[in-house]
Amino acid sequence: MVRMLYWFTAILLLWTATGTVRGGNVTYDGRSLIINGQHKILFSGSIHYPRSTPDMWSSLISKAKAGGIDVIQTYVFWNLHEPQQGQFYFNGRADLVRFVKEIQAQGLYACLRIGPFIESEWTYGGLPFWLHDIPGMVYRSDNQPFKYHMKRFVSRIVNMMKSEKLYASQGGPIILSQVENEYKNVEAAFHEKGPSYVRWAALMAVNLQTGVPWVMCKQDDAPDPVINSCNGMRCGETFAGPNSPNKPSIWTEDWTSFYQVYGEETYMRSAQDIAFHVALFIAKTGSYVNYYMYHGGTNFGRTASAFTITSYYDQAPLDEYGLIRQPKWGHLKELHAAIKSCSKLLLHGAHKTFSLGPLQQAYVFQGNSGQCAAFLVNNDGKQEVEVLFQSNSYKLPQKSIGILPDCKTMTFNTAKFNSVGKWEEYNEPIPEFDKTSLRANRLLEHMSTTKDTSDYLWYTFRFQQNLPNAQSVFNAQSHGHVLHAYVNGVHAGFGHGSHQNTSFSLQTTVRLKNGTNNVALLSATVGLPVSLFVGAYLERRVAGLRRVRIQNKDFTTYTWGYQVGLLGERLQIYTENGSNKVKWNKLGTNRPLMWYKTLFDAPAGNDPVALNLGSMGKGEAWVNGQSIGRYWVSFHTSQGSPSQTWYNIPRAFLKPTGNLLVLLEEEKGYPPGITVDTVSVTKVCGYASESHLSAVQLSCPPKRNISSIIFASFGTPSGNCESYAIGNCHSSSSKANVEKACIGKRSCSIPQSNHFFGGDPCPGIPKVLLVEAKCT
Ligand SMILES: *[C@@H]1O[C@H](CO)[C@@H](O)[C@H](O)[C@H]1NC(C)=O
Ligand SMILES: *[C@@H]1O[C@H](CO)[C@@H](O)[C@H](O)[C@H]1NC(C)=O
Ligand SMILES: *[C@@H]1O[C@H](CO)[C@@H](O)[C@H](O)[C@H]1NC(C)=O
Ligand SMILES: *[C@@H]1O[C@H](CO)[C@@H](O)[C@H](O)[C@H]1NC(C)=O
Ligand SMILES: *[C@@H]1O[C@H](CO)[C@@H](O)[C@H](O)[C@H]1NC(C)=O
Repeated sequence: MVRMLYWFTAILLLWTATGTVRGGNVTYDGRSLIINGQHKILFSGSIHYPRSTPDMWSSLISKAKAGGIDVIQTYVFWNLHEPQQGQFYFNGRADLVRFVKEIQAQGLYACLRIGPFIESEWTYGGLPFWLHDIPGMVYRSDNQPFKYHMKRFVSRIVNMMKSEKLYASQGGPIILSQVENEYKNVEAAFHEKGPSYVRWAALMAVNLQTGVPWVMCKQDDAPDPVINSCNGMRCGETFAGPNSPNKPSIWTEDWTSFYQVYGEETYMRSAQDIAFHVALFIAKTGSYVNYYMYHGGTNFGRTASAFTITSYYDQAPLDEYGLIRQPKWGHLKELHAAIKSCSKLLLHGAHKTFSLGPLQQAYVFQGNSGQCAAFLVNNDGKQEVEVLFQSNSYKLPQKSIGILPDCKTMTFNTAKFNSVGKWEEYNEPIPEFDKTSLRANRLLEHMSTTKDTSDYLWYTFRFQQNLPNAQSVFNAQSHGHVLHAYVNGVHAGFGHGSHQNTSFSLQTTVRLKNGTNNVALLSATVGLPVSLFVGAYLERRVAGLRRVRIQNKDFTTYTWGYQVGLLGERLQIYTENGSNKVKWNKLGTNRPLMWYKTLFDAPAGNDPVALNLGSMGKGEAWVNGQSIGRYWVSFHTSQGSPSQTWYNIPRAFLKPTGNLLVLLEEEKGYPPGITVDTVSVTKVCGYASESHLSAVQLSCPPKRNISSIIFASFGTPSGNCESYAIGNCHSSSSKANVEKACIGKRSCSIPQSNHFFGGDPCPGIPKVLLVEAKCT
């Protein structure tokens, strides 16, 4: 299994919001929806407009688009829009038209699930409570009062969309609508009034003449021409299919996680599992998959249904805050791209299924002139298998599907993050003594040899022995800072000093050969010294090897050959020009001392950009040829976490697309685990006064801690959290004491008391406490 969660992000660029009209009449056949005469494989994502704020919509939709989403699906929330009978509300978060127009502006399609019973873990399933008091009311049944109000509301929404020309048939983005919602779950309870209600609802909807098809999810007897669709996590396995050969296979809800209720744990669904089931559904000629949710958001106010927590589907590809959640977002993006790369063939080719083994199948799509695309499925949840397909063999990890858009190259596997060729690697050569030009019969001091041209200095020697191959004890003592030992080309050990004591010794076992043995020791400095508690006599400070022994033999005074710096440094392979001077290979050897290279796009927006190197060890990183600094994630604090995980990439180093990222990794790292993140700085502020609150409570969002105190004043500061200044009375220990109490914590409480601030700064005057802090 992959050591770390993958993810490469490249969060997308701004794109030209084209406002292109992509609509046209929408019909369907047994293969797919047909938009403007064209069959389509569509990926859709649920984003519910009232679960975020209008200023977030554009960014959520553009992140969905960048993730390979074609359609944004939303419910329509009746009790939000008609809180009192006949009083309608479509402003702010309820501005449905604005939301659909935002989808249109970004060139995506929309699917409107009007319900109007929607469930959606939304209070009362979207039904306004006033319905309850209408005489004779029976919800969701062949019941006159219910049908009257349902038809009235559905018509109103449809007419609103029509008057704004939002249906595809009018040139708008809406290509699909839904009436009712998972009615089959409750239908039997209504006896004969159930089926007749289904027929009524379908006919009522169709008669509204939207020019686009309707679906009824989980309604296997949905009346023609309404399409029955599947909801769940495994529709490739569970869906009995459309109820007519002329209807396409549609998955309206692929649950990316699950809603959470008070008292229960978060439901986690892996990116691999989602990708497996989507690929299976498409392999079995499904043509439309909607992720429920793509962005869950927040149940603001009192909108959550009974016992549902306020955060909604935080584990979706975009988390509650609208931030890209990896690896889901990126893995699904790659899945969409792999499927889209052969979608014509999938839609128009002949479909065949073959067995490849007891638990393995091939789903193949063939064109008229020999084109071919295949999905190779391994249903075995326990082991990887090797299958033979069209005389080539393929390894399929456990429970995975490989996608071969040309029936030859597996460009995507649902269980593996990082598609082929994204990262490339180049192994820095290990120098041999014979090839070195600088020689000495002793161990040279590191800094005076490299002359500060590189962190790295190779110490090499070779020796003969006439002994059987065997393990021997290797021992090196170094003045600092870091040492990697290679014997006969094999990495044999790693040691390092620390800020307190740069000296260290490295003891390990090495395998010696009968014959010639080549030893290469890579010494590295981690910055030149400034002072070590005493800064005097800096010129006398030393680094590098002090003593080397193998078994009982001392090599300290021996014939050593030296190489200053690395080949990759000399060729500047971290620059665009230099990177062409060596041959990069497909990622996969996972050896130490490796250069890694990839391209990434600048994240959208203006937030600061940070490289998350949490999956790496120690080395240096370059962006477009500029070093962003050394990294050392494997050097842990006494608490067991890296001292620094995120590394700043100034926006000035970036172009919108195709930024060259090169890393030199000394140890072992997992580059597909690297992400390009944006840092959204959150500030928290609190105010307490004698008459108001006795303490300031600060609390950062999840996974963030207070990193600095921007402002703190115990005394008579003016203003409030929006704008403030120190007043006539101010305790000089305000900031220091708040820092002591809060830095590094997610939340803290600071009492508004003389005692806490070490005395009264102005006796007799009423004091307040105002604190603003930064969460990172
Ligand atoms: C949709 O179909 C109708 C009837 O066939 C036709 O009049 C209309 O022009 C079509 N609309 C679009 C956008 O193609
Ligand atoms: C080492 O190799 C040489 C040459 O192949 C051989 O003659 C000798 O016996 C070997 N020595 C041992 C200890 O295996
Ligand atoms: C520094 O580390 C070396 C090697 O581990 C040790 O011999 C030496 O005593 C240490 N020096 C100090 C000042 O701790
Ligand atoms: C890269 O190579 C091209 C072509 O040889 C040259 O024109 C350009 O100046 C080089 N760029 C840098 C930064 O060296
Ligand atoms: C935040 O602080 C908590 C202790 O309050 C600590 O366990 C956690 O590791 C910190 N997280 C970060 C990202 O610093």
